[in-house]
Amino acid sequence: MMLKARFIFVVQGAVTLTNVSGISHKLTVDSYAYLPPNVEHSLKCDGSATLVVFERRHASLENQPTEQIVGSTDQQPLLETPGEVFQLRKLIPTSIPYDFNIHIMDFQPGEYLNVKEVHYNQHGLLLLEGQGIYRLGDSWYPVQAGDAIWMAPFVPQWYAALGKSRSRYLLYKDVNRNPL
Ligand SMILES: *[C@@H]1O[C@H](CO)[C@@H](O)[C@H](O)[C@H]1NC(C)=O
Repeated sequence: MMLKARFIFVVQGAVTLTNVSGISHKLTVDSYAYLPPNVEHSLKCDGSATLVVFERRHASLENQPTEQIVGSTDQQPLLETPGEVFQLRKLIPTSIPYDFNIHIMDFQPGEYLNVKEVHYNQHGLLLLEGQGIYRLGDSWYPVQAGDAIWMAPFVPQWYAALGKSRSRYLLYKDVNRNPL
């Protein structure tokens, strides 16, 4: 039994996801899938592919199951980001059954986070496009596409996009559960 929910995002190449019902989806670049815990599935790749995979021990709520989701970033609506300039999309429903979300955040060169954030949530981040500078606590890290960051709870964090092209990053965030 797999008690972990799994999230898969295709960075390069393509894979075929088949679940226990025998239903297949071809996932290409920018596509993703969320698989609830205990949903058996297989992933098949004919060439090469690069995937981001997050697994999380699912904190389930009684009678509030999560469902398999297959989608792509470009199908997701842009969301409001009060006080901020970056463009935000969320890949997983924000409803209570889901205990994490994946945000896709886009910054044009020169744009930066207005708020230096401090919060309980952990983040896993993969820079998909562009380059910039990430501040974690009192350290400043030049980052570029392909770089990954893990942000512990309560680490002050801030990003500024540099270079000549858009920055896009993928961000894991735990949500909807009491962190204690
Ligand atoms: C298998 O995938 C299909 C299509 O995405 C979905 O409707 C179905 O619920 C999935 N089966 C399970 C057991 O999650």
